Amino acid sequence: MRKRASGVRAAGRPGTGLADSKDLLTVAAIPAAHVARLLEVAATLKAVRQRRALHQPLRGMTLGLLFEKPSTRTRVSFEAGMNQLGGQSLFLSTGDIQLCRGESIADTARVLSRYLDGLVIRTYDHAIVDEWAREATIPIINGLTDLCHPCQALSDLLTIQERKGRLRGLKLAYVGDGNNVANSLIEAAAKTGMAISLACPAGYEPDQRIVKEARAEAARTDASIEVVQDPLSAVNEADVLYTDVWISMGQEREQSRRLKDLAPYQLNERLAKEAKPDAIVMHCLPAHRGQEITTGLLDGPQSVVLDQAENRLHMQKAILSELLGRPRRNPSHAGRRP
Ligand code: CP
Ligand code: NVA
Repeated sequence: MRKRASGVRAAGRPGTGLADSKDLLTVAAIPAAHVARLLEVAATLKAVRQRRALHQPLRGMTLGLLFEKPSTRTRVSFEAGMNQLGGQSLFLSTGDIQLCRGESIADTARVLSRYLDGLVIRTYDHAIVDEWAREATIPIINGLTDLCHPCQALSDLLTIQERKGRLRGLKLAYVGDGNNVANSLIEAAAKTGMAISLACPAGYEPDQRIVKEARAEAARTDASIEVVQDPLSAVNEADVLYTDVWISMGQEREQSRRLKDLAPYQLNERLAKEAKPDAIVMHCLPAHRGQEITTGLLDGPQSVVLDQAENRLHMQKAILSELLGRPRRNPSHAGRRP
């Protein structure tokens, strides 16, 4: 039987936000203390869920999801999470609203801010979520852009912490395309004091500006960020092995070039032998078995990919609690811009 939660301490406090910003657009923009708080709240909410206890701080609120790319995990975990927190969700595909007939982001953002309490955006160019965040008065959450995937990386921190008992001092090796997932993992490592070593072929390196800014953050947290071309050197003595698809959404026309260039960067048993014997294997999913990762590793005893998928739910509930649950300065959204 479902019971009302009692003693939901960390998660029970009103949300404090994630910094001065009302939005979650990148991991880099979240102060380290708020990342630590998100991990604490997510772990508490996970325990609440495991007890099947009710905790509904977002009753009466509505979360919109506006997706220009497909999604299984991000969409379903945000929608289920919002329901579990007592709120409701509304999925909006761009083809069904007036955006597809040329209505501006600015007008749409200002209108949706009058109906909704938060909005998750999945899109292509990162500048689009920046524009939404500028124009909307409600929290905007980045549900993946071509540049980064912050909700994935934050959820992955929870999985790593659960499995390894800590983050600081661990070595994460990422092998493959230096894409949106890699970029957010770099920011997450810099924020939490992990060493991250990425092996990417020439031309597939992570975003240079993200690497530069993460190195500045890493100097404050004792993290390190290394980008190399040799997968063997990246995985050496790693605690965590991570890979992602070689063809991200929107890159379908580059398929044949990418398959050829990235072929030497498959995460496989030969590479895994160079990592620590208790290394965990991670992939944000969806995966292409036989391309970026072997079936043996993805489905083997070291794999934590289903925990990763589950932890999207708990971490995103923490994000929603923090961003939507904080007291509003201006609940009617009135008085800012038209
Ligand atoms: N990992 C991830 O974001 O999955 P979806 O594309 O299914 O949301
Ligand atoms: N890099 C992948 C991640 C999917 C969750 C993509 O952008 O398609």
